[in-house]
Amino acid sequence: MSVECFVTGGTGFIGQHLVAHLSAQGHTVRVLMRRPERLAELREHVANLGGNAARVFAVAGDLQRSKLGLSMADRALLRQASIVFHLGVQFTWGLTLQQSRAVNVEGARQVALLAAEQKSRLVTVGGYMLKNHQHLRTIGIDPQRAQLTDWPAVYRKVGGYEASKLEAHFATLQVMSAQGGEVTVVHPATVCGHSRTGHILESQPLATLIRNLAQGKLAAVPGTPEHWLPLVTVDYLVELLAACAFDDAMVGQELLALDERTPNLRELLAQMAQPLGVKPPRHHLSLRLMKWLLRLPPIARFLNTSVEALDFIQTQRFDTAALELFANRHGIAKPDIREALQLTAVFVNAQYRGEGTGRGTPAGPAGSPRPA
Ligand SMILES: NC(=O)c1ccc[n+]([C@@H]2O[C@H](COP(=O)([O-])OP(=O)(O)OC[C@H]3O[C@@H](n4cnc5c(N)ncnc54)[C@H](OP(=O)(O)O)[C@@H]3O)[C@@H](O)[C@H]2O)c1
Repeated sequence: MSVECFVTGGTGFIGQHLVAHLSAQGHTVRVLMRRPERLAELREHVANLGGNAARVFAVAGDLQRSKLGLSMADRALLRQASIVFHLGVQFTWGLTLQQSRAVNVEGARQVALLAAEQKSRLVTVGGYMLKNHQHLRTIGIDPQRAQLTDWPAVYRKVGGYEASKLEAHFATLQVMSAQGGEVTVVHPATVCGHSRTGHILESQPLATLIRNLAQGKLAAVPGTPEHWLPLVTVDYLVELLAACAFDDAMVGQELLALDERTPNLRELLAQMAQPLGVKPPRHHLSLRLMKWLLRLPPIARFLNTSVEALDFIQTQRFDTAALELFANRHGIAKPDIREALQLTAVFVNAQYRGEGTGRGTPAGPAGSPRPA
């Protein structure tokens, strides 16, 4: 069955893969684009990723604008969308409360209102930090009473990107509940490259980590031997997102998309260092000391990282039983995360050296500055 889908963030990393997947399945995909004149470029990326470019169309708009800045004609066209996927986000460290709220929170609200109003199923992407309730409470959010949160205090604690993602999640649920709309939320871990090609966009946090490793900027492993950076491959994530959209049992549900076999951080760095031909760091440096060092701008510049990025490294383990059940029910096989890590390192290294791998698009049209 072919349906109409509306995708925000379709030019981004996960979005390009999702658009490729949906269009390859025969669905018509309309992508919200700030620069619709770049549709040909997006279609090329989608085709390279195995999608059907002829089924992909641009809808001019911007998450920062009232009613997404949609024209009346596009608004009418989008009413045919059975599913709205919301992936658009301003993904940069160092954002102010105003900047991140404008796109990530208000944009999410506008998308939720649109989906509810036209009775489309909304599939939205959160983040795995939303499944770490202990962490949420530590930073001042009671997930059961999120409306009582002092949001400016949360923004000061964790930075604009993470705080706005958390606030957007609760704002979306509130809109959908008030409007009686259907919503499913998928919470991914940090996203790894494609499990067969290693394809990843250079702006992604994992790509930055790989470049830092290749350049010898990682002299120590952040945290303790218990610390890890949970991952999920982009292809597995996209299959989950698409399956959620067509599964009525997922209405009102949240799904954690995380590979619990991701090795601890030291082992993860060793896996990636091997194909890069560099020595992985062996000794640990406490996160507290690292955060303190990163507050010194020259060190943050040299290490090419930010305090905000360190929050995603944690010791918390997650229950993925519901994910396993869901994936089994839909016949979605989980790729080998270690192999995917190595392929991703090879892909990033080739990009970094300007070689290209010939196995995917080297860079997407999502060219805004990202976490560095
Ligand atoms: N990547 C990860 O590791 C990770 C982990 C957990 C959760 N997530 C979540 O997954 C979703 C997708 O992430 P991603 O990594 O694919 O992001 P990404 O590569 O940074 O792409 C961001 C997308 O949002 C669009 N966008 C940004 N500002 C916009 C605006 N004002 N109006 C319209 N579109 C705008 C970008 O369009 P342009 O082409 O115009 O820039 C791009 O398509 C986000 O919700 C993110 O928080 C990601």
